[in-house]
Amino acid sequence: MEERIDVPEAEIAVHWQEEKYYYPPTKFITQANLTDEEVYERFSLDKFPECFNEYAGLLDWYKHWERTLDTADAPFWGWYVGGRINASYNCVDRHLAKNKNKTAIHFVPELESEATQHITYQELYVRVSEFAALLRDFCGLKAGDRATLHMPMVPELPIAMLACARLGVIHSQVFSGFSGRACADRIVDSGSRVLITMDGYYRNGAIQDQKEKADIAAEEAAKGGHSVEKVLIWQRYPGKYLSAKPAVHGRDHIVNDLLKGYRGRRAEPVPMPAEAPLFLMYTSGTTGKPKGCQHSTGGYLAYVAGTSKYIQDIHPEDVYWCMADIGWITGHSYIVYGPLALGASTVIYEGVPTYPDAGRPWRIAEELDVNIFHTSPTAIRALRRAGPDEPNNYDYHFKHMTTVGEPIEPEVWRWYHNVVGKGEAVIVDTWWQTENGGFLCSTVPALGPMKPGSAGPGVPGIHPVIYDEDGNEIPRGSGRAGNICIRNPWPGIFQTIWGDPDRFVAQYYARYCKDQNSKDWRDWPYFAGDGAVQAPDGYYRILGRIDDVINVAGHRLGTKEIESAALTVPEVAEAAVVPVADEIKGKVPDLYVALKPGFEPSPELHKRISDAVVTEISPIARPAHVWIVPDMPKTRSGKIMRRVLAAISSGQEAGDVSTLANPEVVDELRHMVAV
Ligand code: PRX
Repeated sequence: MEERIDVPEAEIAVHWQEEKYYYPPTKFITQANLTDEEVYERFSLDKFPECFNEYAGLLDWYKHWERTLDTADAPFWGWYVGGRINASYNCVDRHLAKNKNKTAIHFVPELESEATQHITYQELYVRVSEFAALLRDFCGLKAGDRATLHMPMVPELPIAMLACARLGVIHSQVFSGFSGRACADRIVDSGSRVLITMDGYYRNGAIQDQKEKADIAAEEAAKGGHSVEKVLIWQRYPGKYLSAKPAVHGRDHIVNDLLKGYRGRRAEPVPMPAEAPLFLMYTSGTTGKPKGCQHSTGGYLAYVAGTSKYIQDIHPEDVYWCMADIGWITGHSYIVYGPLALGASTVIYEGVPTYPDAGRPWRIAEELDVNIFHTSPTAIRALRRAGPDEPNNYDYHFKHMTTVGEPIEPEVWRWYHNVVGKGEAVIVDTWWQTENGGFLCSTVPALGPMKPGSAGPGVPGIHPVIYDEDGNEIPRGSGRAGNICIRNPWPGIFQTIWGDPDRFVAQYYARYCKDQNSKDWRDWPYFAGDGAVQAPDGYYRILGRIDDVINVAGHRLGTKEIESAALTVPEVAEAAVVPVADEIKGKVPDLYVALKPGFEPSPELHKRISDAVVTEISPIARPAHVWIVPDMPKTRSGKIMRRVLAAISSGQEAGDVSTLANPEVVDELRHMVAV
């Protein structure tokens, strides 16, 4: 095992002060969806798993399920087994009878000169049906096939997702900011033959060429022996082609042209088994290869509908804005599937929050009369720095706000509450992961008081527990941190890692499993991989990842992935990545590299190494610093001591280094980094 680098961080964190409570405003409570104190009783472990029938009951089913939870193949849980359902029908068609004129999606382009589009449920129905017909008839896609999407934040992204879901095609959206190569890895892993992308989109006032990434993705996939047969390219402006790269004959097709042949065509939703996979979402884990988290149709949709209703407090008349990217799980669950399943109006913003200035989000909120706002601590920090008083200039009123993705500092939380929320909004700090489908810990907004920096208790039906290294439960209020786990399965939990069931069991269930042959869910606690501490009031404070993952701006990046990217530069012999605290992004990666003999550091080489990380992964993974070092601190058995590098990067004491094979290197590196 490598040295764990974040143990000291966890130890520091438990010395944090307890914060005082903030109480939800009466105005919020009087309109809230969930005000019943009995809810925790209704979702107690005695009532498990049938308590979750309440969530499935929020949806329309073709066929009612026979068993709420099937544990026969533990820990591969089956939810609502025997039921048949279609996610696209639930997010679109079923709202037509009463609400076809209602806005489903408000699309806000990044350029303020471009008008906001208000897409009604009827229009969404037409566009999803026509595109589904195209996927079925032109691409030959059918239930169980995979399609990779590499789409920016435009309405065509949820349209493509819902079109896939309509046919039972498993979509795999890759974050648009990821490189062509990162996209290729995910195409190959999922076995997608169709790639759906867009020619370009706006970011920070400039057009980004997205189609050029599709060329790289297809070429790289081909090198891996996998053929992308069709690339479907949406035009950001129909009729105009934005990319510098020409369409490849026979492979590339302009969607907006093809769609002309599908006018008026309707693909009927396919009644899918509840357990059929709905989508894959790739995430970074303890080894270099990203994992395709496979989410189910019935369980996932029920869970995001239930939590959107009770934790997000979405009512059909709300204007709900989750300022995240649909390319991450937050966007899948809480921009697309949850809000649309409930028939709300969901906002999609194309660009960066601070473009063209830090007042932009608040202008959008004012114009659309947004009343529920959802974002990450990174975005909150950035907006606070760029325009601490900006919210005061705009007349909007949030009833509810969410923070998600990383721990939020109490100071930043208070700015969010007092300035962004004008002291009027309730805040939920929601802890969960790509693997989980929906929220795990959060206060129920009308029931529990808020505590800055704390995620709160498990949401109804989620029963967390903190174990120490030996599997003993750490009692609440002990002040000790440990590994947070969930005692019970829940409908939103992912079904497996695509193509790698052994890794699924090993990574998420083996750690504290009491009996590997057991069919009883009680023997299979879910291991989240986060450190946490539970306060005397039962609230959980999440301390961060305990594995080799860096959470940059709320996005999980595998340290191994970044290191492998650096190693693609021929001069690089060794690479090590460590997290460093950053005022805006929470954490950023620092990259240490040692060169092969005969090579010298140069500014050009620095740049090439940094660029390699961007090309292989994404600009979000770009190292804050690339330190080209003469040698890495190593144990006698030759392992790189990342803990020591992390301490050097953060200007902290490195602790006892006497056991290193080369302790003298520590001072040398410290000097280098300090200059
Ligand atoms: O470490 C936790 C942190 O983000 C990780 C999950 O990242 P990802 O799968 O990318 O999903 C992000 C959005 C759901 C977790 O293991 N994390 C997420 N939410 C919080 C958090 N840390 C503290 N507080 C949160 N509210």
